[in-house]
Amino acid sequence: MEDRPPPDLRTHQPHSARMYDYLLGGKDHYTVDSEAAEKALTAFPMLRTAARENRKFLGRAVRYLVREAGIRQFIDLGSGLPTAENVHQVAQSADPGAHVVYVDNDPIVLVHGSALLARDARTAVIQGDIRAPRAVLDHPQTRALIDFERPVGVLAVAVLHFVADEEDPEGIVRVLREAVPPGSHFILSHATADIAPEAAMGVQRAYRSQGVPLTLRGRERFTEFFAGLELVEPGVQVVCDWRATEPEHRRPDHADVSWYGGIGRLAAG
Ligand SMILES: C[S@@+](CC[C@H](N)C(=O)[O-])C[C@H]1O[C@@H](n2cnc3c(N)ncnc32)[C@H](O)[C@@H]1O
Repeated sequence: MEDRPPPDLRTHQPHSARMYDYLLGGKDHYTVDSEAAEKALTAFPMLRTAARENRKFLGRAVRYLVREAGIRQFIDLGSGLPTAENVHQVAQSADPGAHVVYVDNDPIVLVHGSALLARDARTAVIQGDIRAPRAVLDHPQTRALIDFERPVGVLAVAVLHFVADEEDPEGIVRVLREAVPPGSHFILSHATADIAPEAAMGVQRAYRSQGVPLTLRGRERFTEFFAGLELVEPGVQVVCDWRATEPEHRRPDHADVSWYGGIGRLAAG
């Protein structure tokens, strides 16, 4: 780390990792990011609720993988800035020996994540792009921490909507799927305009107008990301409903969440 030049944090332009941090109430963002997130909030005033529900889904899904599917190693693509209940904390609370590789294309994630994990040899943060999945899989730190002979938990949570159609998001998931053995699980989530079209498309416009590519997709298209995988019960759900621990009357309206999630399992043969 010491002899590398300081990373270009691109603080003059909003970035999705820091906007998400702002929405979740974190401190690792700049004025450009909070201003950009406020524009999205104007279009979709419940966006903070949506982000929190997505994050809660991620926690429940990782807990499922650790406790019920026996997964002990994770690759978290588009991991975001460290927040509450990071994947390694959830996984290592069940098994301190669990391994996690965090991957994000925003250099600020590397800076903050490396500081958080400085003394944790079972966890690494690498700068990588989900659109170049082979490079992520071949990265020396991925190779050091992940045993590709054993099932892997692959997360692409709230990141595939930053991959445009022409960048082949299904192809990206396919490359990842082909790299991991049977028993591996994929946790995916994705924002949608199915439920509250006007507000959600307002968010897409707000992000795009500030240079942050966002492509909302419908339920059918999202479900296609699970091709070649078996959907774990209860299948694709609005994230607040996926194995919810709260009773229905305490969960937000679907229109205020507008985010699908699910887990797919790679079966043998
Ligand atoms: C909305 S945040 C989601 C964070 C976390 N996965 C979660 O759901 O709580 C999206 C993250 O994806 C990252 N990201 C966006 N495009 C990416 C890409 N092409 N490759 C890797 N990471 C990307 C952003 O930097 C950001 O940290």
